[in-house]
Amino acid sequence: MQKLPIIIAHRGASGYRPEHTLAAYELAIDIGADFIELDLVITKDGVLIARHENELSETTDVAFYPQFVNRQTTKLIDGKTKTGYFAEDFTLAEIKMLRAKERIPQLRPQNTIYDGRFQIPTFQEVIDLVKCKSSQTGRVIGIYPETKHPTYFRSIGLPLEDILIETLQINGYEGSDAPVFIQSFEVSNLKYLSAKTNFPLVQLLNINGQPYDLALKGDPRSYLDLIKAEGLREISNYARAVGIHKNLLIPIDSNGQLLSPTSLIQDAGQFHLLVHVWTFRNEDLFLPSNLRGCPQKEYELFFNLGIDGVFSDHPDTALAARS
Ligand code: G3P
Ligand code: CA
Repeated sequence: MQKLPIIIAHRGASGYRPEHTLAAYELAIDIGADFIELDLVITKDGVLIARHENELSETTDVAFYPQFVNRQTTKLIDGKTKTGYFAEDFTLAEIKMLRAKERIPQLRPQNTIYDGRFQIPTFQEVIDLVKCKSSQTGRVIGIYPETKHPTYFRSIGLPLEDILIETLQINGYEGSDAPVFIQSFEVSNLKYLSAKTNFPLVQLLNINGQPYDLALKGDPRSYLDLIKAEGLREISNYARAVGIHKNLLIPIDSNGQLLSPTSLIQDAGQFHLLVHVWTFRNEDLFLPSNLRGCPQKEYELFFNLGIDGVFSDHPDTALAARS
């Protein structure tokens, strides 16, 4: 019998609380999500923290602290020039002075009442929350960390991978059955991780572009190349799952209307790869044009294709569709 798809709370219940805060993760767990997804970057003093990118001003109040004005700088991150305030230039003590804010206030104005209330959590604090809620509820609540900018962080002497594995191990996570998936948009750091750990790994695959580490090596393969048979075969040597952009499975036309599904589920299945799909959100802006106002239907379509998991900003909608 086909197993039910797992519901992965994307950055917590980020449709309802500022993303990557303990409040967002806790709400996701209370709603009933199976896994908590968190993106990881690192501080100057080598502590993993939950943020989607190392530049902090889009999701925190960092720009409003006079003492941090001179931290604003311009860097080349993954081949793109970015100006702002970067996690790796702050100690954890300094990061803890900041407060989170809603990333997309124009779309989620109801979440702005939480702006300024919540700290930036460390990876350890997220694990502590997950363990505490697991013990309170008796449920297995998984964690689904993503290494952000792994080549960049390694290049500045702050590699993420070993700290990530050590943190998981110290907290009692062990082996291939641990309720953990470690994800990356890059290839090399997943291969590095696969040599060091049995934790399930997830190769993230986007609709366009190529893994930054491959680009640096002069490897011309794009994400679209990696979903071909040879790419999937290679991925299956180091990963348990592919984490795919939803339009790789159901493309849309220029009007945003859904087209026929591709064979990616079957292709991945040939290599025993699970398929987790991102990112599902309730707002019309993120829905196919023929499903606006009906976010549950989008999940149903994908569930009916046999996917193994969804990343969702609104895990309550995902759970309703699954039920
Ligand atoms: O990690 C998969 C999903 O989260 C999509 O990527 O950009 O939201 O981290 P992103
Ligand atoms: Ca992510």
